[in-house]
Amino acid sequence: MTAGVNGRRIDGLPDRASARSMRLLREEHRLLRRQIVEGRPEAADRQRALGKHTARERLALLLDEDSFTEIEPYRRHQARGPKVDGDRPYTDGVIAGSGTIDGRRVFVYAQDFTVFGGSLGAAHAAKIHKVMDLAIATGSPVIGLNDSGGARIQEGVLALDGYGGIFRREVEASGVVPQISVVLGPCAGGAAYSPALADFTFMVRGTARMYLTGPDVVEAVSGERVSHDELGGAEVHGERSGLVTVVHEDEESCLADVRYLVSLLPSNNLEPAPRTPPRGAATDDRPRFAELVPVEPNRPYDIKAVLEELVDDGDFFEPHELWAPNVVCALARIDGEVVGVVGNQPSVLAGVLDRAAAQKAARFVRFCDAFGIPLVTLVDVPGFLPGAEQEHAGIIRHGAQLLYAYCEATVPRIQVILRKAYGGAYIVMDSRSIGTDLSLAWPTNEIAVMGAEGAVNVLFRRELAASAEPERLRRELAADYAERFMHPQYAAERGLVDDVIDPAQTRSAVARGLAMLRDKRTAGPRRKHGNMPL
Ligand code: HXC
Repeated sequence: MTAGVNGRRIDGLPDRASARSMRLLREEHRLLRRQIVEGRPEAADRQRALGKHTARERLALLLDEDSFTEIEPYRRHQARGPKVDGDRPYTDGVIAGSGTIDGRRVFVYAQDFTVFGGSLGAAHAAKIHKVMDLAIATGSPVIGLNDSGGARIQEGVLALDGYGGIFRREVEASGVVPQISVVLGPCAGGAAYSPALADFTFMVRGTARMYLTGPDVVEAVSGERVSHDELGGAEVHGERSGLVTVVHEDEESCLADVRYLVSLLPSNNLEPAPRTPPRGAATDDRPRFAELVPVEPNRPYDIKAVLEELVDDGDFFEPHELWAPNVVCALARIDGEVVGVVGNQPSVLAGVLDRAAAQKAARFVRFCDAFGIPLVTLVDVPGFLPGAEQEHAGIIRHGAQLLYAYCEATVPRIQVILRKAYGGAYIVMDSRSIGTDLSLAWPTNEIAVMGAEGAVNVLFRRELAASAEPERLRRELAADYAERFMHPQYAAERGLVDDVIDPAQTRSAVARGLAMLRDKRTAGPRRKHGNMPL
């Protein structure tokens, strides 16, 4: 409506009607905006009663204060069907946009369970697609907070199409921007592929669950009765399936940990990870290293204590702490520079490599390589786990995955051999032969096809069987074998170890190595892509 007579403006007359309507429009806008932000308070209370936060509360926990810019808050579904007819909530059940973590840009979406159970329809999916496209275009990490009943039933194929669009973008973004998926409620059916495709997946114990088919379907198909948690709770995926990177007890600590992880990651594959000021690590000798590791090759110790001594402030982020704990992977800083550390864990299964350990380390090595994060490998490994179960389930294939991941990694690579490094496991743990740039070894290193006793048992089986004193002979032969083939300088004399270092120099030698390799560039042969033994 315009001021004036018969709709014609009268010169000089104040435009009162349009001024009033602007005020009204702004007031209407403010009220609507408040309603959108408040959402459905009764449903939000039900969330809180379950120990869950609302989508907006989660974003507030995740992002720097007041940094969130929302996109498409007015988006609504265009669907027809039961329950959706006449109910077209704004946001369509997902809060999407961008904010910062420690001042660095990230793109985010948070599914809102209070709207149609967070289920995904075409509009909901389109918002997630947009966030992912912008993350790729701007070279920023993308973080998805999942809490959803899955494909919105009333939207049929459009919902499935929406999921497909998410998966395709995740694969496109893989190795370009870091992707983090946080599961804070149900994540069922094909929806679970989204966390599965992410680089890091977080889950909260008790409220989060992931499965392809829920307990009802399982019972109908096989008669097996399982609870939601037994089927796909945080314990299952954190400890057994290996799908989840980190398990938390509550949403606050989970989202705080996501912030910590982001602080260690580059924003994209073309930028370096954020550095902190150097710590003088190149001259930081630490006698404690030698106290942490027993000299006898079979005595266990905790590799994480060594890791704490190696990295700045003893701080590290450990993916898959609960899955395959016989190998430890960690993101940390050495002299301010972010590194990925892989270490055998002698306190679990004697640090042997099994299927799960090989898969865990392979995925970690590939992530670090994709994002330019140097690798430090701490070796103390008796070999691969023998046995029919491992063989039948594919330990050769999984071991080959780790081998492949290291072989194709072009980031700076440093190997530190603490004690034993036997057989194929020595080769796989970033040996010189598969391309490590710098191999360091402690004087306690034992690199061989197998341990001295095992070697003697094979080589001198007949002599031992014929001997009147087989134990004494075995000891003598083993000592001779160890002296000839496993002495501390054996590999270094042959150029397979670059230097034998005092354990106290582990941090300083690694820091110097990282500085030396910082500008490493490599160019492999041209190809579309290799064919990793998946
Ligand atoms: C539409 C849904 C929905 C869905 C839940 N709701 N899931 N609406 N499509 N997929 C609605 C419910 O009708 C309910 O609406 C509200 O959300 C809350 O759900 P409740 O069941 O009351 O909550 P709760 O008891 O906590 O149970 C949550 C749940 C359950 C375990 C997620 O809702 C459930 O089993 N949903 C179906 C899960 C599923 O099978 N999804 C499809 C998976 S297949 P009202 O109006 O009552 O509040 C899939 C394919 C993806 O996702 C393929 C990709 C390739």
